[in-house]
Amino acid sequence: MSLTAYRTLGRSGLVVSPLALGTMTFGPGAWGADEPASRSIFQAYREAGGNFVDTADIYSGGESERLVGQFIKETGSRDEIVLATKFGFNGSASPLTTDASGRGNPHAGGAGAKNIHRALDASLVRLGTDYVDLYWMHVWDGVTPGEEIVQTLGDLVRAGKIRYYAFSDMPAWLAMKAATLAAERHVPGPVAIQVEYSLVARDVEGEHFPAAKEGGMGVMPWSPLAGGFLTGKYRREDLSNTGRLSGANPFGQSKFVDQNWLILEALKTVAEELDRPMAQVALRWVMQRPGVTSTLIGVRTTAQLAGNLAAADLELTGAQMSRLDAASAPTPGFSAALTAPAIRRMIFGGNDVWGWSDQGTRN
Ligand SMILES: NC(=O)c1ccc[n+]([C@@H]2O[C@H](COP(=O)([O-])OP(=O)(O)OC[C@H]3O[C@@H](n4cnc5c(N)ncnc54)[C@H](OP(=O)(O)O)[C@@H]3O)[C@@H](O)[C@H]2O)c1
Repeated sequence: MSLTAYRTLGRSGLVVSPLALGTMTFGPGAWGADEPASRSIFQAYREAGGNFVDTADIYSGGESERLVGQFIKETGSRDEIVLATKFGFNGSASPLTTDASGRGNPHAGGAGAKNIHRALDASLVRLGTDYVDLYWMHVWDGVTPGEEIVQTLGDLVRAGKIRYYAFSDMPAWLAMKAATLAAERHVPGPVAIQVEYSLVARDVEGEHFPAAKEGGMGVMPWSPLAGGFLTGKYRREDLSNTGRLSGANPFGQSKFVDQNWLILEALKTVAEELDRPMAQVALRWVMQRPGVTSTLIGVRTTAQLAGNLAAADLELTGAQMSRLDAASAPTPGFSAALTAPAIRRMIFGGNDVWGWSDQGTRN
């Protein structure tokens, strides 16, 4: 599989690469890449055949969007690139911005119509374009009704300011409700969900993956290397000065727990067997999981990018996948436990019954 092994994102005609370039690292910041480094990363991803670039209004206080827009302009590649950005977090009082002090404007965040229009107009200016291909709700605000979100984003599709929209970091029920509302109203609906997903973050398999499948939404994992943890560069005995997770970062140091160190051991064994870096194997495991459409990679250097892109040419055998699946198996949540094979056999008189929603997971 190369970066030109294109596929559509969810039930849509949007054609994307299996690895998308995340640009959260573009711009200033302790774990960021400066302008020349960001440009080199962008160019290397493009030269490898990638067409899917993901940014957000909040990344580096807007600098990531500005750099992405500039690189697209410099390379004249607007028509070839699927440009995705996000709204939702509040730029006026965010821990990610340097001027975070006290409270900000409540209208500068959230999924209400007022903020979405404001945020998109500001993003278009920074990106230097008059439309985005994919507009993500970065995070649900917990208050805006699904009806309003579908209405506002559908209107923006009809206005030609965005081509498609999708949801990141939201409850599965909300994504499914929006998809259902849109289908019933015959208006544009969400085409994808973006969730944290890796060997050490699998709880989204319980509700989000089935919702995405039922709702015609592609799954786009973020932090497939758990912020760098799955590269194997962190040592349990000494966590200092190794990378992003060693210092202050919005994701904290939550990866350093007993269970994850055990998963890392299993990953190391498979990587040694294949004579490949752990990062490639971890990334490839995400790419090969059923339901995953395009995986977001994040890098700080071109060397990291080159190493990680090689995951596109790696193939894990069924046995290797199974070993990694078993080592990282999440505790089944309520829904997953209810739909376990043993319960289904109880329901169907001891028979194994294979349903439509099992397609792709059983044969
Ligand atoms: N929707 C959301 O809420 C959300 C949240 C997070 C991210 N995202 C998106 O997902 C993208 C990827 O997320 P992520 O950056 O967290 O992904 P990740 O792949 O889990 O972590 C990337 C980081 O790991 C380290 N790394 C990567 N490859 C490496 C290698 N080969 N060797 C050693 N270290 C390596 C680098 O950090 P250091 O070198 O600094 O240690 C790099 O910045 C982001 O750019 C963004 O577009 C979305």
